[in-house]
Amino acid sequence: MIKNDLFLRALKGETVTRPPVWMMRQAGRYLPEFMELKNKYDFFTRCQTPELASEITVQPIRRYGMDAAILFSDILVIPQAMNIDVEMKPNFGPYLPNPIRNEADLANVIVPDIQDSLGYVLDAIKMTKEKLNNEIPLIGFAGSPWTILCYCVQGQGSKNFDLAKGLCFSDPKTAHALLQKITDTTIAYLKEKVKAGCNAIQVFDSWGGMLSPVDYQEFSMQYMQQIVDALKDEIPVILFGKGCWFALNDMAKSGASALGVDWTCSPKNARYLSGGQITLQGNFDPSRLLSPPAAIKKMVKQMIDEFGKDRYIVNLGHGILPNIPIENAGAFIEAVKEYSA
Ligand code: CP3
Repeated sequence: MIKNDLFLRALKGETVTRPPVWMMRQAGRYLPEFMELKNKYDFFTRCQTPELASEITVQPIRRYGMDAAILFSDILVIPQAMNIDVEMKPNFGPYLPNPIRNEADLANVIVPDIQDSLGYVLDAIKMTKEKLNNEIPLIGFAGSPWTILCYCVQGQGSKNFDLAKGLCFSDPKTAHALLQKITDTTIAYLKEKVKAGCNAIQVFDSWGGMLSPVDYQEFSMQYMQQIVDALKDEIPVILFGKGCWFALNDMAKSGASALGVDWTCSPKNARYLSGGQITLQGNFDPSRLLSPPAAIKKMVKQMIDEFGKDRYIVNLGHGILPNIPIENAGAFIEAVKEYSA
């Protein structure tokens, strides 16, 4: 039904002529057409207005023709729906003025009705699916419960998320209760996203690498496992953990269809750690898009050769940076489309 199904075939582990390609945070500040809308509408207006969210989602597709689109939204719409205030401050990032620091704070956190509180995301999905016209698949996403807890407790971005880890280690009961509420909300949310038309789901564990391997099991993996268990029979799930090479083995056994890898783990090591069977996605250093286009193309070809063209989705190792020249991003996509072994 979807004309370009390279991405879905790679998720199933089927043999392909070339690997599919998309870029994490592909709708973003490196695109002039994105900046035009960003200058006119604040962040949550862009997220909450289906016309804007769907337009921003298809902007990079129009320019570059990636093999998958990812819905323009944010992982922090989940805490917002759970009755936690979330602001996006210009030149600062996420700011949560009333963070969750103890059992009393947790009492105000709800598991919301998805249609009531996040219906705008579902409308944006439906509108985006119309605009995509079955040309390519649409990826829906959520943050991992651990990564969402990081923001809910810390109240903002952080180099070490000391307050978030502090809650986990000093008051694990409250931390686990918060993680479970986030997990329940996320599962209900992702199930609605599937119904609205998403073709794959990615879970972003952006701050998983802050945890030791043992703590990762307790505070992140067991909750992502609940999400995979709830979704895997309905839709392919991709787990991306930044700095989480140590968890690739457990993730490979989770029932997920693919695993994201960052650039600190070599393709060979990633294949070894994940057991050699599961589809991998990544892992170009986002800063390497600052190299000249010819060098980017050479490095992309080499990366595909190292991962192998099958069971592989070309991507960056994390989100694209705002200072990437548009022609360099173009060279990255072109290199994949021109690939032949
Ligand atoms: O990938 C895409 O193109 C879809 C859109 C998308 C956004 N956020 C839009 C956005 C996705 C998938 C996200 C996920 C997200 N949001 C993550 C996980 C991925 C990752 O990068 O690790 C995280 C940790 C967040 C939280 C968040 N949102 C931060 C830390 C920031 C500020 C940093 C920044 O890049 O400015 C945001 C804001 C945000 N989310 C922007 C965009 C395009 C930039 C601000 C703006 O457009 O006004």
